[in-house]
This record gives sequence, structure tokens and C-alpha cells, in this order.
Amino acid sequence: MNPDRTPHPSDPRRRLKPVSNPVKPVSNLATARRSSIRVRAAVATALVAVLILATQRPAAAVEQELGPLPASAIPGYITAAVNSPDRPAADKDKDASRDPAQMMAFFGIKPGMKVADIWAAGGYTTELLARIVGPTGTVYSQNAPFPAKFKDAETAWHDRLKEPGLGNVVEVTKGFDQPDFLGVPPATLDAALINLNYHDLIARGFDTARFNQAVFRALKPGGIFGTVDNSAQPGSGARDAATLHRIDEQLEIAQIEKAGFRLVAASSLYRNPHDPRTQPFWKLDHHQDRFMLKFVKPR
Ligand SMILES: C[S@@+](CC[C@H](N)C(=O)[O-])C[C@H]1O[C@@H](n2cnc3c(N)ncnc32)[C@H](O)[C@@H]1O
Repeated sequence: MNPDRTPHPSDPRRRLKPVSNPVKPVSNLATARRSSIRVRAAVATALVAVLILATQRPAAAVEQELGPLPASAIPGYITAAVNSPDRPAADKDKDASRDPAQMMAFFGIKPGMKVADIWAAGGYTTELLARIVGPTGTVYSQNAPFPAKFKDAETAWHDRLKEPGLGNVVEVTKGFDQPDFLGVPPATLDAALINLNYHDLIARGFDTARFNQAVFRALKPGGIFGTVDNSAQPGSGARDAATLHRIDEQLEIAQIEKAGFRLVAASSLYRNPHDPRTQPFWKLDHHQDRFMLKFVKPR
């Protein structure tokens, strides 16, 4: 299934069955008038139904997750970036779990794009983005000021951005309480990613409504907002964000859609149906179940 081409669930085409022609042959004028009134009433009712349905926002806008992409669907510029001999060995060690070629292809990252890596931490995702967008693109690598506990990640980030080949990265240190925390003018980004940190926004008590609105403003119409996160149990909302570093997927979708984004694709790439979602990922001897979602800012 191609969810980009599947009508959105709020699209009345998905909800309304085609109506067969209700107009029957008439034998006299009175019957014809009654019939015409009925037709007009039916049309008016249908229009009201369409208007109501058009304003409804379902929790999930895609019905089916996409599986991993075939190797032939991964562009050469992504494979080349992931296989770059200049990437640090510590990053390459993470690739088995993070499968960055699949992730970047799913989000549609391309050379020349202007993209943001939100909550970049040590910069694993930033470096991959920089190598894919190349010299004609720009990566805004953003972190909020680091608390003392995470100073090592801050040092690693600063050191990384000095490396040759990352000259297209703009370092942005701004807190999420600032409306322009991405440091870009409105409607300038082609894509913004937050990889494994959206739940931390909630854990740290940041205003996610304001956060999502700021991302929405920064993206061009048609721009992509991509997220990967650790799954919590369905229906658990924000309960496990600070403790298990997991989040209920439906909560994340609802918050992001509320800012005006439309969910256009979901991937099963990081799924693990055997994960009971009762432990934080660092206590597991298996991969935690994760969800990967692609949203678009409507044109
Ligand atoms: C799973 S990693 C993902 C990082 C990054 N988004 C990426 O794509 O590589 C999560 C990182 O967030 C950072 N982190 C977690 N809690 C944090 C906090 N309260 N303040 C700053 N950084 C934090 C840690 O450095 C941790 O390695």
C-alpha cells in the first residue's frame, strides 16, 4: 500500500459509500416535485456529512505500516553516506540497531536539503544527515543547553562538528522554551527529525504543543517531520516517558497532528512484537519496540 496515495481517513471518499442514483422515473408532476425535494434533501444531508467528516481528525491517519524498504529503494547517496570511511567507529557500532539507511530513505532525505536534527545529543544523526545533504545542503543540529550529567555528550557533539566534512552543519544551542529554538526563519526547512528523544521532551516537562508549533513554522509547506521513538504500552499516554523512556505512540501522533501536521506513513522497521514494553531499553537483552512516523506539513 502506498499511504501517500491512500485517501486520508478524514477524506469522505473513505467513509461514504458511493450513492446509487436515487432518482426514479416519474409518472406525474407532483411525484416529480416530491422526488426532486427528496433528492435536494439527500444532497444537503450528504454535504453536511462531508463537512463534518472533513473537520474530524482520527488518531492515526495510516492504517498499515510499511515494511523495510527493498535494497533497490535505498538511494546511492544514502548508502554512500552510511558507508563513509570517515564516520566514527562508535557510530558504525550503532548502525545494526538503528539501520540509518532505511531510516533516511523512509524520511526521504536528499542532497541539497535544509534539515534540522532536533535534540541531536552527541550528533550521530546529525553526521549522517550532513553526509547525505552534502555541500549544497545544510543541517541545523540543535540541542538545548546540556545539564551537567550530559556534559560528555555536549563535548562529543562540539568535537564532532569540527570534523572535516561537516562544514555544512550549523550548531544551534537553544532551549525548547524559545519559540525559534531551531534558529531558522519560518518556512525554510525541507525536513526536521527527532530521533529517539520526543519522549524526553515530555520527561523533562517541556511544552510539546509549543514545540510542535515551532517545528511546523520552521518547515516549508510539504516539509517532512520525522520521529522514531520507544513504544510504551497502548493507552499508557505519557506514563512511562520519564521512567522507562517510552511513549504511547497514539499520544505522540495526537500531539503532532494537533499542530497541523498530517501523518503520511508509518514503518514497522524497528518493531519487536516480543517486547512487553515494561522495561527501559538499557535493561533489555533484545531490541525495544520502536515506532517510526513520517508527518507532512500540508501545502
Ligand atoms: C537514544 S540517544 C538519541 C540521540 C540523538 N537524537 C541521536 O539521534 O543520536 C538519546 C540521547 O539523549 C541524551 N539525553 C538524554 N537525556 C538528556 C537530557 N536530559 N539532557 C540532554 N541530553 C539528554 C543522551 O546523550 C542520550 O544519549
